[in-house]
Amino acid sequence: MKYAVIGGSGLYKIDELLVTDRIRPTTPYGKISDDIVVGTFAKHELYFLPRHGVDHAIPPHKVNYQANIWALNEAGISGIIAVNAVGGIASNLKSGNIVIPEQIIDYTYGREHTYSDGTTEQVNHVDFSHPFDRALRHLLIEAVNKLDSSTYHIGGVYGCTQGPRFETAAEIQRMKNDGCTVVGMTAMPEASLARELSIPYVGINIVANMAPGISDEIITIDDIFQVVEKGNSKVLDIIRVMAKS
Ligand code: HPA
Repeated sequence: MKYAVIGGSGLYKIDELLVTDRIRPTTPYGKISDDIVVGTFAKHELYFLPRHGVDHAIPPHKVNYQANIWALNEAGISGIIAVNAVGGIASNLKSGNIVIPEQIIDYTYGREHTYSDGTTEQVNHVDFSHPFDRALRHLLIEAVNKLDSSTYHIGGVYGCTQGPRFETAAEIQRMKNDGCTVVGMTAMPEASLARELSIPYVGINIVANMAPGISDEIITIDDIFQVVEKGNSKVLDIIRVMAKS
């Protein structure tokens, strides 16, 4: 497997990656978020792309998801492991926990969300009943189970909001009623674009905070970065185990 990792808030580089190349291909959809860093991790070739750019200058609604996924596909990767910081909605979650979500509800709007934009010969109505690739997710779960940690949660529903502001308490209550267990701003349209190109795609979520109204603490991006920084080592542990299997 030639995995790509898309880093979210707080994950802008993988220190252990033995870098062999940096590429920034042009795409029919414009510029990608940053260089794709190519290297070796746990003896496997790995491609890394920070979704928000290394300086975290690109907000969730301005990420060029079309270009990013297109470029990774052109690079010949065989699967995408997407890392996202999220807010926890389900009461069993704690900040610092890792969630491997199973489903998505999309609350975003106005994002370029498909390659079927009327310019292709035929509209590609992809099946998206299971937004995360089952086979790759199976490998991911096997890896997580080997890590034997109470801080990992398998399953759940990722609600994707528009951002960049955080949600109101009422919005989170509505999402909770809808069945969302975590909230983030970036899994969509990334996941469905990957599906349109038939790229296996899975998500690893780092619970950076409890969602608005679930906790009354004020959420700041600096607090999120601090939690995510610690969570990153757990994410790399998972990928390391996955690479070996
Ligand atoms: N809401 C949306 N996105 C997030 C949050 C949140 O509370 N925390 C980290 N990303």
